[in-house]
Amino acid sequence: MTDNKAMMDALRQVMDPELGKNIVELGMVQDLKINKAGEAAFTLTLTVLGCPMREQMAEQSQKALLQVPGVKSVKIEFARMDDATRQKLFETVTPQLPALKEFNKVKRVVAVMSGKGGVGKSTVTALLAGEARRQCLKVGVLDADITGPSIPRLFGLPSGGLPQSEMGILPAYTESGIKIISTNVLLPDEDTPVIWRGPLITRAITQFWEETLWGELDLLLVDMPPGTSDAALTVMQKLPIDGIILVTTPQALAGMVVRKAVHLAKELKTPILGLVENMSYFRCPDNGKEYEIFGPSHAKQTADMAGVASWIRVPIDPQVNQLFDAGKAEEARLPEIQSKFRQLVFAE
Ligand SMILES: Nc1ncnc2c1ncn2[C@@H]1O[C@H](COP(=O)(O)OP(=O)(O)OP(=O)(O)O)[C@@H](O)[C@H]1O
Ligand SMILES: [Mg+2]
Repeated sequence: MTDNKAMMDALRQVMDPELGKNIVELGMVQDLKINKAGEAAFTLTLTVLGCPMREQMAEQSQKALLQVPGVKSVKIEFARMDDATRQKLFETVTPQLPALKEFNKVKRVVAVMSGKGGVGKSTVTALLAGEARRQCLKVGVLDADITGPSIPRLFGLPSGGLPQSEMGILPAYTESGIKIISTNVLLPDEDTPVIWRGPLITRAITQFWEETLWGELDLLLVDMPPGTSDAALTVMQKLPIDGIILVTTPQALAGMVVRKAVHLAKELKTPILGLVENMSYFRCPDNGKEYEIFGPSHAKQTADMAGVASWIRVPIDPQVNQLFDAGKAEEARLPEIQSKFRQLVFAE
């Protein structure tokens, strides 16, 4: 007499090709029985009745059952899975966050922040990421500027949907292997405006951190949304930021906006690792002379005020503009960034 257990075991060899698990485990085998004449029968419940894989699964089930001693023939009926079972099934195959958390090993998270927009946060983020790669570090960039993403363009990455794996979102890779997550690589094209409000922005930021397959990273740089806005605050609260790099310019009001940022950092108990005075001067390619176009530097003063040990002055460099416009950010090398990279990012 053939028992149900032997038949069930045989059916465990049949996989649902879409879900990657066997049909018994997925609860797709119902009313399995066999009569004295050796005629086996069961109902194969499918998530959708028109499931394109059903013939394949039925054929494999038949083959598997016919291997069981005593089974002479097999009859399979199809049925639609009830909603509760389907729901349960999808829960078992959707990404399990604990698994992803084990997969992700991000050693250091550094936020690049500024008191106001347009001072060069994204530029500095990209320069630091490029330098990290040159120093053979595994590096990722999380573009937390959800509504004004600019990181992918600087690295020449196309928009148009990142592949979703069963475990989570896969980051895009730049030429030198920097992993990038940004709303821009998720959207169908670069010109699609992101008009999300608070809750959606928070959701996106959380997803970028929690549901992305970052893998092992020595450093994750976070390009912050401009200023000390709500969105910036959300990033600081949702991500385990180890430290902040403040970007400023020598303009007159810079001091005030930096104070705001310093205040925010203090409130959130996150150390400021370093200060970057961007567009600090222009180095003339013709005579090598330096011109302080936006006025005298406040870098040292501001660093003292913020209580930061490391600071650098980054010049206005036409090379930066050209390379960044061409999507070749990782080719831009600035000696100022190179020489102080470790102090700034790792506080060494
Ligand atoms: N050191 C530099 N030399 C030359 N151009 C620069 C430099 N830093 C920034 N820029 C240019 O200034 C513009 C603004 O820079 P960027 O986009 O990095 O600022 P941001 O702070 O990220 O702005 P937002 O607040 O809008 O996100 C860009 O066109 C960039 O190419
Ligand atoms: Mg930016």
